[in-house]
Amino acid sequence: MRKNIVAGNWKMNKNLQEGIALAKELNEVLTADKPNCDVIICTPFIHLASVTPIVDKNIIGVGAENCADKAAGAYTGEVSAEMVASTGAQYVILGHSERRAYYHETVDILTEKVKLALANNLQPIFCIGEVLEEREANKQNEVVKAQLASVFSLSAEDFSKVILAYEPVWAIGTGKTATPEQAEEIHAYIRSLVAENYNAEVAENTSILYGGSCKPTNAKELFAKPNVDGGLIGGAALKAADFKGIIDAFK
Ligand code: PGA
Repeated sequence: MRKNIVAGNWKMNKNLQEGIALAKELNEVLTADKPNCDVIICTPFIHLASVTPIVDKNIIGVGAENCADKAAGAYTGEVSAEMVASTGAQYVILGHSERRAYYHETVDILTEKVKLALANNLQPIFCIGEVLEEREANKQNEVVKAQLASVFSLSAEDFSKVILAYEPVWAIGTGKTATPEQAEEIHAYIRSLVAENYNAEVAENTSILYGGSCKPTNAKELFAKPNVDGGLIGGAALKAADFKGIIDAFK
């Protein structure tokens, strides 16, 4: 059975003290009122080592928002998958559209990052999604299919550790959410691609999250769709009450 997951993506927000305060608050509210799904917070690199010891591992998983495409060495300013794992983090977001667009991360670069994450026991939260012009040209299916090449060369065993996140770029941070029907349609398509590339069982067990202006007010109808297994949350992950509101969509 695949897992329902609500993951937060803090992006480049919160200084260390603010990040620690948010993690503590979340840990308190979710300890008092246990979630009905897996919860993950993905934070800036510098927060990881401080945040992992203050959250209850059984309730909140911790992840990075990126990692290097090289294992180690003379790559000034980069942070390796091994370093991320050494903080106690268990997840890493890879292929976010902001990384693809602003830092020119290609399918090949992401293939390397995914391999290094898995080699260091980090579960990738692998993001895919089309931009507005591609949606308007009805090209979303071919776009996500091409992006999935970074994970489809993995063995079935390795792929079973990957969490997919469909995030239409036109919905990220714009307040313009995909309708539950739009999300369901492409999530079902993505699952069919997983079945084609692996098999029906692997596809059934893959968690596919929706991301893009997901809020407490729309999470429930999105997550009610059979192929939407939770969300990857940006803006609404920055306030404990909003994030909890989305987590509670599974109650
Ligand atoms: P948003 O971001 O919820 O602020 O739209 C989602 C994401 O980029 O992961």
